[in-house]
Amino acid sequence: MAGDSFVIEGGHRLEGQVRTSGNKNATVHAMAATLLTPEDCYLENVPAIGDVRFMVEILRALGATVEHTSPSSLRINASRIHTLAAPSELATHLRGSFLVMGPLLARFGEAACCPPGGDIIGLRPLDVHLVGFQMLGADVSRDGEKYIARAKGLHGSRIFLDYPSVIGTQNLMLAATLAKGHTTLVNAASEPEITCLAQMLNQMGAQIAGAGTHTIEIDGVGELHGITYRIIPDRIEAGTLAIAAAITQGEVEVLEGVPRQLDALLWKLREAGVQIEERNGNLRVRRKGDLKAINAQAVPYPGLATDLQAPLAALLTQASGVSSIYERVFDNRLLYVGELRKLGAEMTNSGTTAIITGPTPLIGASVRAVDLRAGAALVLAALAAKGKSQISDIYHLDRGYEALDQKLRSLGAVVERV
Ligand code: EPU
Repeated sequence: MAGDSFVIEGGHRLEGQVRTSGNKNATVHAMAATLLTPEDCYLENVPAIGDVRFMVEILRALGATVEHTSPSSLRINASRIHTLAAPSELATHLRGSFLVMGPLLARFGEAACCPPGGDIIGLRPLDVHLVGFQMLGADVSRDGEKYIARAKGLHGSRIFLDYPSVIGTQNLMLAATLAKGHTTLVNAASEPEITCLAQMLNQMGAQIAGAGTHTIEIDGVGELHGITYRIIPDRIEAGTLAIAAAITQGEVEVLEGVPRQLDALLWKLREAGVQIEERNGNLRVRRKGDLKAINAQAVPYPGLATDLQAPLAALLTQASGVSSIYERVFDNRLLYVGELRKLGAEMTNSGTTAIITGPTPLIGASVRAVDLRAGAALVLAALAAKGKSQISDIYHLDRGYEALDQKLRSLGAVVERV
């Protein structure tokens, strides 16, 4: 709910097992992909989070039927699309809303959407998407707040992406799937969410090769069919839970902790002194004793995920020495530094680099979740702080973490939603 806060009493060691939910971003991407077919699509392992609820509303506003067949499954049918413009009041809630552009353009020859919302974490341009649509044969214009793309028929093309944007790559992949001929995306993003989307599209009848590398080859097909698809586990949630274990000197097994998608984080955690075992796709995380300072940089996959740099910074407040975190993906994603300082962290923010001196005892305080991952960093710090912390604006956390308070409580944390 909009005005909710978490009240966390820190100092409790986390112990036990917890399961990772379905991947937030992969779910939003998959929901957009269902617009490519008039047939029923069933998505499983869908997390109950705010971003999914907004995306459900967007698809319904376009004319799709969306129903929950269970709390974690959706049936989506896009056979009766009646408008090709995403409503701005919904699209401004999440970045992934712009992903309706590629499928609508490919299937109906027209699509419109305003610059999408999401966290305020720096400039988030759309040139990769828009130039790519033009390369596929679309006219792109601006009508008031909305971008409009129109095409009499898309054709394949060789497209260099100026930056390996995640949803930029996906929008072009979605559009090229139904374009005539062959498309090559050069300098494509290689995040696991790209591979997941390509896998889903191929099961729907698309011809996509190379997803997971920086060159993706797509042979356009005439149509796609319905599918039942299980969303992959959320690597960012798994990483956040692993850090929760470490910051509380606990011992936690994260089931479906996707260690093979978390190489960079696990490498850094081990370097700092956290013990990690990987078994059958699960992660066992244990911390006994002191941590040491490390340097890390957030870069595109397989480097350290930008979505995990704020949580890692929270942990490094407990490491001995001077650590640094260099954010190289977004230009304004260190807003959490000021909030962590209110809890006693000794940190500076030079714009894109956080310098952290530790270990500092953290002390409960009132702080604000300024964005989704900043909120996660505050929750983590509060778990390790002495006394009570109140974290306001947790609607940001509810947008992206399924039942985070319940999961933490199941591990022994004292967390209340007020
Ligand atoms: N960029 C461009 N031109 C573009 C698009 C992006 O220069 O046309 C630049 C951005 O300015 C930024 C960088 O590319 O500096 C990365 O942005 P990207 O487009 O890759 O991010 P995104 O696709 O908008 C997705 C996730 C983010 C995640 C990033 C990076 C979704 C819905 N969002 O965003 O998730 O941080 O990839 O991995 O998939 C989150 O979950 O907290 C979150 C913000």
